[in-house]
Amino acid sequence: MTASDPASRYPQGSAAFPHANLLGIARLQPWEILFLLDEAEQWVAMNRKAAKHDDRLAGLTLINAFFENSTRTLLSFEIAGKRLGADVVNMHAAQSSVKKGETLIDTAVTLNAMRADAIVIRHASSGAVQLIADKVDCPVLNAGDGSHEHPTQALLDALTIRRRKGDIAALRVTICGDVLHSRVARSNMICLGTLGAEVRVAGPPALLPPGLDALNVAGFTDFDAALDGADVVMMLRLQNERMAGPFIPSAREYAHLYGLDERRLALAAPGALVMHPGPMNRGVEIVSTIADDPERSAITEQVEMGVAVRMACLDVLTRRGRGVEGWA
Ligand code: NCD
Repeated sequence: MTASDPASRYPQGSAAFPHANLLGIARLQPWEILFLLDEAEQWVAMNRKAAKHDDRLAGLTLINAFFENSTRTLLSFEIAGKRLGADVVNMHAAQSSVKKGETLIDTAVTLNAMRADAIVIRHASSGAVQLIADKVDCPVLNAGDGSHEHPTQALLDALTIRRRKGDIAALRVTICGDVLHSRVARSNMICLGTLGAEVRVAGPPALLPPGLDALNVAGFTDFDAALDGADVVMMLRLQNERMAGPFIPSAREYAHLYGLDERRLALAAPGALVMHPGPMNRGVEIVSTIADDPERSAITEQVEMGVAVRMACLDVLTRRGRGVEGWA
C-alpha cells in the first residue's frame, strides 16, 4: 500500500465506515467521507459501460419510502439498487396508508416486518429519518429530511467537485440562494468544511440560517462579494414549499440580486465550476446559458455521480448484513 493508494488514507474493513445508517454528514470523519467517494469511483466506471450490472446485492430487498416528491434522488436510488442486483420497491406516500393517517412509527414497523435489507427515506420533517432508523433492524439512508440533511447529495457533490477540481481542501466554494431551507446546503456546508474547503454562503438576510459561525461558514448578503475568487459556485432553488410566509419581495427582484448570470460568474475564479442540485428554476437562480454549458456547468454530471454515490452507500451499508469479510 502506497501513500497515493486511496485505501491507505483510512482504516480497513468496517473501521473505514463504522456506521449502521447514513442519516447525515454531521459526525462523519473526513476519512469516512473519502472512503465513500473512493468506493463510488468504481461505480462511475461501471456505469459508463454498456452492461451495468453487479450481483452483490442479489436477494436483498431495498425499499425506497418517499414521503415527499423527488425525481433525481428516487430514480437514482432505484437505479443504484437495481445495478447492484437488489430487488427494489418504491413506496410513494401519496398512495400509501400514510394518507389514511398511519403514524410514521407504524409505517416503520410495517416496513421492518417485510424484512427490508435497506430502507431509503425522504420526509418533509427534519428528524423523521432518525425516528425510523431507531425502529427498524436494517440500514437506513436519509434521502432528505426537511431542512436538515441530504447526505447522498453532499457526497455526490463532493465527488463531482473532486473529479473536476481536484483536492477539495484547496478550494473556495460559494453556495447561493435559499440556504435557510436547504438540506442540500446544510449537508454541503458540513461535508465541504469537513474536507477542508473554505465555504461561503450568500442570500437575502431572511434566507441565511443562524449558526453559520459554528460551521465555520462565512455568510454574505452581497452575492457579488461572495463570488470573489470562488472555485465552485453552487446555486440553490427557492424552496417555496418550506416557507411559512413571504421571504423575498418577488422572484424578479431575487433574480436581480441573487441570480447567477454571465456578469456575476465573471467575478468568480477563472474556470469556476457551476453546480445546482436540481430541480432548477431557470431564469430565477440561474440563466440557461450557464446551466446548459457543459464546460462551466456540472449539473448533469452531478446526476451521473448521484447513481455511483448511492451504489457505494448501499454496498457499504449492507456489508455487515451480507457478512462481507472484515465487516461481519
Ligand atoms: C433537493 C432536495 O430535494 O433537497 N433536490 C435534490 O434532491 N436534488 C433540492 C431542492 O428540492 O431544491
